[in-house]
Amino acid sequence: MTEQPTFNNVSHTIFVVDDDLFSQQLLGDTLARNGYATRHFSDGTTALQAAREEPPDLVLLDVMMPDLDGFEVCRLLKESEATRHIPVVLVTCLNEKVMKLQGMAAGADDFISKPFDATEILLRTRNLLRMKEYGDILKDHNERLELQVRERTSELETAYNELKSIHDRLLQQDKMATIGLLMAGIAHEINNPVGFITSNLGSLKKYGERLAEFIFEQDKAITADGQVVRIMENVFALRNTLKIDHILEDFPQLLAESADGADRIRKIVQDLKCFSRTDGAEQASADINQCMESAIGIAHNELKYKATIMREFGDLSHTLCYPQQLGQVFINLLVNAAHAIDTRGEITVSTRQDNGWIFIAISDTGCGIPEDIRLRIFEPFFTTKEAGKGTGLGLSICQDIILKHGGEIEVVSEIGAGTTFTVKIPVVEP
Ligand SMILES: Nc1ncnc2c1ncn2[C@@H]1O[C@H](COP(=O)(O)OP(=O)(O)OP(=O)(O)O)[C@@H](O)[C@H]1O
Ligand SMILES: [Mg+2]
Repeated sequence: MTEQPTFNNVSHTIFVVDDDLFSQQLLGDTLARNGYATRHFSDGTTALQAAREEPPDLVLLDVMMPDLDGFEVCRLLKESEATRHIPVVLVTCLNEKVMKLQGMAAGADDFISKPFDATEILLRTRNLLRMKEYGDILKDHNERLELQVRERTSELETAYNELKSIHDRLLQQDKMATIGLLMAGIAHEINNPVGFITSNLGSLKKYGERLAEFIFEQDKAITADGQVVRIMENVFALRNTLKIDHILEDFPQLLAESADGADRIRKIVQDLKCFSRTDGAEQASADINQCMESAIGIAHNELKYKATIMREFGDLSHTLCYPQQLGQVFINLLVNAAHAIDTRGEITVSTRQDNGWIFIAISDTGCGIPEDIRLRIFEPFFTTKEAGKGTGLGLSICQDIILKHGGEIEVVSEIGAGTTFTVKIPVVEP
């Protein structure tokens, strides 16, 4: 509800400040007769003190006073935050123009000349009080408005923080979902090399035993004097039975395969560690080609039955970015590409640098994206996959991450021919 000014004189207190007691009385009586409450002061210092303690609604201020004159009192009233809003009327018998200029400089709101005219005093008083009340209402409104703005701002801040934390959670969830999706494949990936390493080591163990037996027989041949010929015949027979020549041939290959298998496990685990680290918010200088290689490594199992991966990597500068988040983008795009391919196709990953930008394109020879859904694929939860197969968050999160890097993501697609997602991020000097 808007407050209306009352203009009830009784509710207004007016200070009358004049060292001339006659003028003081005359002014005070004129106001009191018309229902105003008045307080009388004979010097500026006391009036100033009283105004600070209990601000009046108006001050009638004589200019010519000993000690502090009216201009000075007016200036001090207007200087202080607590009393600035009180209208001040200067009362004088000085030269009209000089006084008015000086009074205006001191911040006076109006002027009354001696000798007094009662009607003029009352009219000016009423007008100033009316203006003050409007001013007070306005001030009150402003304060309320400011309070509302502050409240709304704080509500918005809370909402923003909530949204941000939901967004961070979604990002983490998507990452976990991607890892979950790829985990079975990764386990298979790890099992495969572990399988042949284990089997090779088993063979190596048996081979070792046979070699030991063989060497033992040879030792006997050398030490058994007089029976050398017969024993050597035994040794050669044993060499055949134990397939020693084959063992010697197979040995280096088994070892090389085992070393390769161990290396593959190391790489898979490294890619996985790089991706699943929880400090994904960390910025680092990274080689985008290497990020892409890690992403391909993680998504390998999802891709290998669907597509041949073609790499067309250009020379790229290291750039300051969030490497794990970019890895997440690449995995999402690669997995989407694989899902779009029905039986077998190609996924081409190309990178290039041009004029301060790095371009990463992932093309597939899949089904393509129909025109009518092309605008919707970046929406959160938009998916054409059956329930349980896709959350529909992949591309929306990709877009978020790329925008956060100051980049862009675009899609070009042709039904039945394939789709190309192009990501563009600025090169940021580490
Ligand atoms: N390379 C592509 N070829 C054809 N359609 C695609 C391709 N990439 C995305 N789409 C379409 O865009 C939709 C949204 O993709 P998005 O990655 O956001 O979610 P999703 O793959 O369905 O689920 P998920 O959250 O598991 O990634 C997909 O359901 C699919 O219809
Ligand atoms: Mg997806």
